[in-house]
Amino acid sequence: MATTPKWIMVGGEGPESYNQNSSYQRALLEAAKEKMSEAIKAKLSLDLIYDRFSVADFGCASGPNTFVAVQNIIDAVEDKYRKETGQNPAENIEFQVLFNDFTTNDFNTLFQSLPAGRRYYSAGVPGSFFERVLPKESFHIGVINYAFHFTSKIPKGITDRDSPSWNRDMHCTGFNKAVKKAYLDQYSADAKILLDARADELVPGGLMLLFGSCLRDGVKMSETSKGIVLDAVGASLNDLAQQGVIEQDKVDSFSTPLYFAEESELKQIIEENGRFTIEAFEDIIHAKGEFTLDPKVLAVSCRASFGTFLSQHFGEQVFTKVFDLIEAKLRQEIPRLLNAKPGMQYLIVLRKKN
Ligand SMILES: C[S@@+](CC[C@H](N)C(=O)[O-])C[C@H]1O[C@@H](n2cnc3c(N)ncnc32)[C@H](O)[C@@H]1O
Repeated sequence: MATTPKWIMVGGEGPESYNQNSSYQRALLEAAKEKMSEAIKAKLSLDLIYDRFSVADFGCASGPNTFVAVQNIIDAVEDKYRKETGQNPAENIEFQVLFNDFTTNDFNTLFQSLPAGRRYYSAGVPGSFFERVLPKESFHIGVINYAFHFTSKIPKGITDRDSPSWNRDMHCTGFNKAVKKAYLDQYSADAKILLDARADELVPGGLMLLFGSCLRDGVKMSETSKGIVLDAVGASLNDLAQQGVIEQDKVDSFSTPLYFAEESELKQIIEENGRFTIEAFEDIIHAKGEFTLDPKVLAVSCRASFGTFLSQHFGEQVFTKVFDLIEAKLRQEIPRLLNAKPGMQYLIVLRKKN
């Protein structure tokens, strides 16, 4: 079977880059900041804060959100240290930040835009987070923002017309029972591998902070605004096939390595993995929790997130055509987007068992 192309963000800092079109993903970090700081204060042992403290961000992209994520964590750790010891963290603690993403991520833009005045040393950690990327016990707090919904590959059968789990409609509306099971099985296996790898790499008692989106139990992806947007991508690809711009076969064999789990599925996967205790599972409600209803903005941010993945399957030329169509489709979908069922934004705090 062909390998799944990597879902990387559009690099650089231009108008179509992820860097310039990721305020939606950043809004969750900002909205959950206080809850995250409280969790660090309550759940991280003071014994772990001495000499050198390492923070790792998995799926960091090219910035700037990763800088917000790691700075919020460092601020919370320093605050805890200052309050509980009465000492100045700047005199006693050196921070190191490990930035992880695929090797093809735009690390150049990331490192060129490191914030001035930061109080941490930085290192890049290239490689898939579905495997070990760091030595044992090498960091104290890990974070994943909007990257805990990927699978390592497109599940078997999904892109095969003869399989009961063929996902004709790319992602959402065609999510019959067999398609759902194939994705859930793949996601569960991958998420457990990811948790095992992070548990090995974390110091005992260290924390993993997961920020992202999931589905409320019983809600179908196609009923949410994310699902409607994904369906608009699929419908645009179908239109291009009908216009003869791309082959129908190419569209039929296209699917995404994405699975937005239901809340209870996430809990079950973490509990079955058994390496962490769930210290908090917060439902973060905030103004940017749902997508904007501006089709232009939506299409540009879709392009920044999906563009590279789509162009790997369909070629560069299709890239621009498909996003023009998506904008038009989304304009027609405004009434459905207005009535979409809410998704859920979460902050999950995990503590590595000793
Ligand atoms: C939606 S972006 C989120 C980026 C960033 N965390 C933020 O908050 O803006 C998802 C990121 O996860 C990365 N990613 C996806 N699968 C990955 C994997 N298997 N290993 C490492 N990074 C991965 C992508 O390359 C991308 O940079």
